[in-house]
Amino acid sequence: MKRILSGIKPSGELNIGGYGGALHQFVSMQHDYECFFFVPDLHAVTVAQDPKELYQRSMDVAAYYIAAGIDPRKATIFIQSQVPAHAELGWIMETQVYFGELRRMTQFKEKSDGKDSVSSALLTYPALMAADILLYQATHVPVGDDQKQHLEMTRDLADRINHKFGKILTIPEPVIQKSGSRIMGLDDPAIKMSKSNPNTNSYVLLNDTPDVIRRKFSRAVTDSEMSVRYDWGTKPAVSNLIEIYSVFSGETIETVEKRFEGQGYGTFKNELAEIVIEKLVPIQERYKEIIASQELVDILKDGAVKAAGIANETIKKLKNAMGFVTF
Ligand code: TYM
Repeated sequence: MKRILSGIKPSGELNIGGYGGALHQFVSMQHDYECFFFVPDLHAVTVAQDPKELYQRSMDVAAYYIAAGIDPRKATIFIQSQVPAHAELGWIMETQVYFGELRRMTQFKEKSDGKDSVSSALLTYPALMAADILLYQATHVPVGDDQKQHLEMTRDLADRINHKFGKILTIPEPVIQKSGSRIMGLDDPAIKMSKSNPNTNSYVLLNDTPDVIRRKFSRAVTDSEMSVRYDWGTKPAVSNLIEIYSVFSGETIETVEKRFEGQGYGTFKNELAEIVIEKLVPIQERYKEIIASQELVDILKDGAVKAAGIANETIKKLKNAMGFVTF
């Protein structure tokens, strides 16, 4: 059986980076896998969060999953903190991972760089992420390129545990798309598109209005060559825009290049904005219907029960094997 587990942290408003690397894949893979899509709120609190915002963003992420096209009758959608097994296995994972391994994680280095006091959870975060995945015996984990290293660690940990305590955990495969797995800032193609960037023109939010989307793309940096050609080595800014076009249109990179052959950046950017708007407006409309509904609450309650059933089985097996008293 092929099973997916993945999620998007509720630590800021969703942008088209998370859509390209994750959400868009979740939607297209849901028919071929048994799916668990969760809201990793325990991960969000590795850095300070305003309680009201955390609540709202957690509900927002869940609503956007459904608005983007995940079918809650097929996929299990839940909030991480409502399934206590995550925190429990997270702790067990921390006992199996080495300090040196955690310290080497690029995301930890980036997020802690230059800061005097960071929470210890920012360091141990990948142990919790491994727990998220391994609890469900996920075979596949669709993620953006920046999560590759965490997935490698998850695989190493599963393998380590299986060697020590018997074959209990499934070793998961990352699923990283060819295009869209690394969407960069519109102002600087060397930096990942991220909601934490203080320059709001660097990203497009899933809830940006059409006018704002048009404005942000029209201001996106390009280069002086004036040809819509895909080449990350020499044309990173334009290549990034081509990837975004490809994700939102479903066309291959080659088709996008052909479509805009001989045309200037102005036309390309205008059409790019329209393609993105065409996809996002219906998502925004469904989001508005879902976010305030009792249906969303019911989906999340049911999802947590179903997820806990599976997660508890894995944790019981592992605790038994490790010598914990489990009667
Ligand atoms: P997070 O919340 O930072 O991002 C969610 C997903 O979106 C992808 N992503 C991007 N992809 C392409 N271009 C971008 N600019 C971009 N920005 C974000 C990320 O790669 C990710 O797939 N640790 C995870 C959350 C998590 C998780 C898990 C994921 C916790 N437990 C278990 C999968 C399985 C994170 O911080 O993602």
